Amino acid sequence: MTVERTFVAIKPDGVQRGLIGEILIRFEHKGFKLIGLKQLVPTRELAEKHYGVHRERPFFSGLVDFITSGPVVAMVWEGDGVISSARKLIGATKPLEAEPGTIRGDLAINIGRNVIHGSDGPDTAAFEISLWFNSEELSEWTPSDQSWRVES
Ligand code: RTP
Ligand code: MG
Repeated sequence: MTVERTFVAIKPDGVQRGLIGEILIRFEHKGFKLIGLKQLVPTRELAEKHYGVHRERPFFSGLVDFITSGPVVAMVWEGDGVISSARKLIGATKPLEAEPGTIRGDLAINIGRNVIHGSDGPDTAAFEISLWFNSEELSEWTPSDQSWRVES
């Protein structure tokens, strides 16, 4: 496994429902390292770039309306295999198909209100991290309990 970084965002429904702490704790307890964290109301330009791959899909404008409708908590997490692991912690896109124990499986029922986003691969992760964060907003740090977390 190689150390990776991924972009994760709590969508406006997750913020409005008071789920920020519940979601952060799952990534913290899993053992991943928080590199960047901020709350912002995304501009339409940012949201359209973020979901640009879905530009031709019928749900695109509704998705952009929703993601710009209120604060989003944007995060960068680091760790071995974090890109695919975060997707597993998040669960399937359709919350009713997401396994119990996953964030969407436990906390959502509706595809249009599925609480959280996670990058779907290395290229997307790099693109999304640079889209949402400046380099000075990202912290390079070594947790003091690193040797307990990671065999090295
Ligand atoms: P995300 O990008 O938000 O992490 O979600 P995902 O990878 O699991 O799913 P993706 O296919 O990338 O879809 C992006 C978001 O668009 C909304 N969606 N709505 N109404 C629909 O059929 C539909 N399909 C997708 C969802 O909010 C999904 O998370
Ligand atoms: Mg996606």
